[in-house]
Amino acid sequence: MGRNNIILCGFMGSGKSTIGNLLSKKMGMAFIDLDKYIEKKEQKTVTQIFEEHGEAYFRQLEKQAAKELSQKNGVIVATGGGTLTFQENVDTFRNGKNKIVLLDVPVEIVAQRLQGDTTRPLLNRSDKEQAMTELYHRRLPLYRNAADIIVDASNSPLKVCMDIMDAL
Ligand code: S3P
Repeated sequence: MGRNNIILCGFMGSGKSTIGNLLSKKMGMAFIDLDKYIEKKEQKTVTQIFEEHGEAYFRQLEKQAAKELSQKNGVIVATGGGTLTFQENVDTFRNGKNKIVLLDVPVEIVAQRLQGDTTRPLLNRSDKEQAMTELYHRRLPLYRNAADIIVDASNSPLKVCMDIMDAL
């Protein structure tokens, strides 16, 4: 029997990587960023993968990475903003030893945090703000459905980590 994993879920800019890093120090657990895991395997950035092969190909890599990471023991995983909007990935992580934590952040804060960001291929478009808002509202019910625990992630990273530890 291995130790449980903590799977961080939420929209782009919800703080999954920041919280994952801090929580890993607080809890003494390893931290794995799913996007970085894919980038390392493919030797390409997520942006390059989208540009060269398209989103559908990226989603296949993401599903495979989710399967691999769901089998780990005692790690914290930051998923991508799209990962847990696919039921197959939710099912992958619902294998008894993964706790899915939603970092819940209002759309206005997400918009502020993503201002000027060029690393999210889905938002590299002229109607960025509108596309982001629509995607956010479409995804929120899916995240809520996937989550075992929901925390308010508009607070400071330290407070968010404390809230997660309390809720676990
Ligand atoms: C995506 C979010 C990104 C990355 C890819 C697709 C999404 O991760 O996986 O660009 O569909 O929301 P972050 O949430 O870490 O930005």
